Amino acid sequence: MAVAHLSPGQLLRPRAEQVIAALDVGTSKVAALIAEVGAEGAPRVIGAGVRACAGVRRGLVADMARTEDAVRAAMQQAERAAGVEIERVLVSISAGGLASSVTSVEIDISGHRITPADLKRLLAEGRDRIFDAIRDSGRSMLHAEPALFTVDGLEGVTDPVGFHANQLGVDIHVITAATPPCRNLDLAVRNAHLDVEAMLASGVAASAAVLSEEERELGVALVEIGAGVTTIAVHGGGVLAGLSSVQMAGGDITADIASAFATRRAAAERLKTLHGAAQAVPRDNHDMVDIPPLDPDDGNDIRRVPRAELIAVIRGRLDLLFGEIAEALDHMGFRGPAGRQVVLTGGTADLRGIADFAAGALGRTVRIGRPRGLAGLPESHGSVAHATLAGLIHVGARPGLDLARIPLGPTPRGLAPAEPQTWLGRLVSVLKRQT
Ligand SMILES: Nc1ncnc2c1ncn2[C@@H]1O[C@H](COP(=O)(O)OP(=O)(O)OP(=O)(O)O)[C@@H](O)[C@H]1O
Ligand SMILES: [Mg+2]
Repeated sequence: MAVAHLSPGQLLRPRAEQVIAALDVGTSKVAALIAEVGAEGAPRVIGAGVRACAGVRRGLVADMARTEDAVRAAMQQAERAAGVEIERVLVSISAGGLASSVTSVEIDISGHRITPADLKRLLAEGRDRIFDAIRDSGRSMLHAEPALFTVDGLEGVTDPVGFHANQLGVDIHVITAATPPCRNLDLAVRNAHLDVEAMLASGVAASAAVLSEEERELGVALVEIGAGVTTIAVHGGGVLAGLSSVQMAGGDITADIASAFATRRAAAERLKTLHGAAQAVPRDNHDMVDIPPLDPDDGNDIRRVPRAELIAVIRGRLDLLFGEIAEALDHMGFRGPAGRQVVLTGGTADLRGIADFAAGALGRTVRIGRPRGLAGLPESHGSVAHATLAGLIHVGARPGLDLARIPLGPTPRGLAPAEPQTWLGRLVSVLKRQT
């Protein structure tokens, strides 16, 4: 069974009885999921795959051949388990300096009642404004979501159709990433004989897998800490309110351990995941951990250090990381009531004690967010490291796929930019979902 090509018309309907495939190309691993969407619209995982990959640096494809191989292997593993052949995939991206901005547009209604045609005109105006804003910026649009409607200055109208008004406005939340990383990721996936159906910012995907509706309504910040990149997505009033990324993550903790104790990276990674923690307890001053020598043949040179020393190195990096996270949150206006919580996910959220550390560093309630609400998700893909991957399936299965196909422009393989018609259909579909 192949994944069918989606027409704009189909985007407006639930993707019932279809197969969705997702691919997360991360700095430490490439992971794949295949899910079936039943008539009732709930996705169920039917295949999963994962491959370690050294071809990606900070979310950027740095070694095309290695990345392609890992993509092919991860997807083949999932295909074999599912018994289907996949042609099109949803792909997450964490590179490219993910950023969000708001485009506001307003149109004249001249005192009439607002009709669906007016809404289309408003959204088309918004779309043109967005294209104008990013043209020549070297960035691509990943996602656009009408977040807030305004009728004659009255904000927060969820369904403006039927109101008498002079002016109708909308704030459209736009997520962009630098175009070259998007193109290289697209190329790596295509070279593995898969078409990219859409690319989604990893923080947006992870949010769909780990946050509850209530959290998004009250205000919440999702912090996804991977191996190379940390992505932060702020939500409020039920919609995405900001997105940014920090070029620091779990790989930097590993590098610090390797350099502090003069050991190999692989040994540092083991020390971190087996013995590491973000908080020390008194007995960590007495518990000793073995530090393998740089030269693996030098068996006599194993040193032992108190676990507290290892934890001190980890905390040194976490201080820097959470300093940057706090700055990014402040920049995105995530201040407000202390009740607004932070949710940590991504592989590094598995570090022992990191929720308590984060709560102290950010002065907020912090919980760890694991992927949930996805039937059939195997244990191998149920951890924090797979939140983004699981989220791609959640987003893909929603009625009205609110993804923007990236307007890459023609590539050597002839990938066309998203046509305006598709854009409008997608924006309207998001609108329908919200009202
Ligand atoms: N138990 C653990 N304790 C500490 N760190 C852990 C643990 N388990 C995994 N990690 C770290 O999580 C990171 C991998 O996370 P994840 O799989 O989310 O990253 P990625 O998707 O490959 O990379 P990125 O999203 O940054 O491109 C690695 O740095 C790994 O060391
Ligand atoms: Mg990741």
